[in-house]
Amino acid sequence: MKRAVYPGSFDPVTKGHLDIIERAAALVDELIVGVLNNNKKTPLFSVEERVKMLEDVTGHIPNVRIEAFSGLSVEFVRQCGAQFIVRGLRAVTDFEYELQMAQTNRSIDRGVDTLFFTTELNYAYISSTIVKEVAFYGGDISGFVPPQVVDCVYNRIQAKKRENN
Ligand code: PNS
Repeated sequence: MKRAVYPGSFDPVTKGHLDIIERAAALVDELIVGVLNNNKKTPLFSVEERVKMLEDVTGHIPNVRIEAFSGLSVEFVRQCGAQFIVRGLRAVTDFEYELQMAQTNRSIDRGVDTLFFTTELNYAYISSTIVKEVAFYGGDISGFVPPQVVDCVYNRIQAKKRENN
């Protein structure tokens, strides 16, 4: 059974993430999307909300499962019985950090390899951070995130703005 884990923050999931999920799922028997529950970062969405949004947008892919995790990605990969980590590379600026992570992960567990997918050109500039920035200033994010996610982002940002006033 070939299993891969695609770890990330997914705060929120973008069309770029979804494209990687679809392409990686086509290569393996099972793809587990691991949503990092990171106490050090303050995400826009709770880990439960991020899991739910990912479930909503991946419902059409039968061999994809969404799980929350905390701690080291490579430990989660081991717990899942997976052999691969999936990551997307958007531009050369991603490369240094991604290479360092892949090499660190492999030094921790030599049974785990990282598979890199180059993002589709039309998604290459999209990041969760950019999505939140555009939404904060009232811009159109419908080209950046799946349709099910658009209102979740606007509503949460509006709620945060109200909280801060
Ligand atoms: O979506 P992101 O924020 O780019 O994903 C980064 C992620 C979650 C893959 C990375 O921060 C991670 O693996 N964190 C878990 C802790 C860990 O394993 N760190 C060591 C990697 S060298």
